[in-house]
Amino acid sequence: MSADDVRRVWDAEAPTYDQAPDHGLLDPVARAAWADVLATALGPASLRVVEMGCGTATVADLLADLGHRVDGIDLSPAMLDVGRAKVARHGDAVRLLEGDGQDPRPPDPTYDAVVCRHVLWALPDPTLAVERWLRLLAGGGRLVLVEGSWHTGAGLRAAEVVALLSDAGLDPVVVPLTDPVLWGGEIVDERYLVTAEVARPG
Ligand SMILES: C[S@@+](CC[C@H](N)C(=O)[O-])C[C@H]1O[C@@H](n2cnc3c(N)ncnc32)[C@H](O)[C@@H]1O
Repeated sequence: MSADDVRRVWDAEAPTYDQAPDHGLLDPVARAAWADVLATALGPASLRVVEMGCGTATVADLLADLGHRVDGIDLSPAMLDVGRAKVARHGDAVRLLEGDGQDPRPPDPTYDAVVCRHVLWALPDPTLAVERWLRLLAGGGRLVLVEGSWHTGAGLRAAEVVALLSDAGLDPVVVPLTDPVLWGGEIVDERYLVTAEVARPG
């Protein structure tokens, strides 16, 4: 999809996107379950996080609740507008910026963590995107990807993401996300989180 097509599709989705149980996490039990998943993936320290394809900023909002500072990047102005209303309570701890996750130009040159949920699979060149994201972790840090291979046929299998990250020189760890609480019901497909550490130089 071209960037214009992405904007058109997701601008149209924005008004209703958060209604899906795993999107807006409006159910406190689901929200707490995702908070646990992200807290485990990122650890207890307060981090500078950049989130690729942050959409309506549900994850950015959770990350800020966990004590992190977050720059979220997304191509869709309408998704970002929904997100801005959501994260306003965090002040400048969350900054939402229009930009391309395939070739991101976030405000800071490096971060402690790059997070991306449900976007990598849809990028024009996931391998090149990850290569660029790793430059943002040049000082050492953690890549956290939430992806799936959905029953619709869309997505990436965990093995594909592991191969991509291994080829990039990383040692990825896969955590299956099978708890129905995360998704608003039982799932019949593959959903998972992958973490990979980037060593601090020297
Ligand atoms: C399925 S939504 C996921 C939103 C959010 N990550 C979440 O977990 O709720 C996909 C989002 O990715 C964004 N997106 C798709 N391609 C993108 C790109 N190349 N750069 C930045 N954002 C992109 C869309 O605008 C949309 O907001």
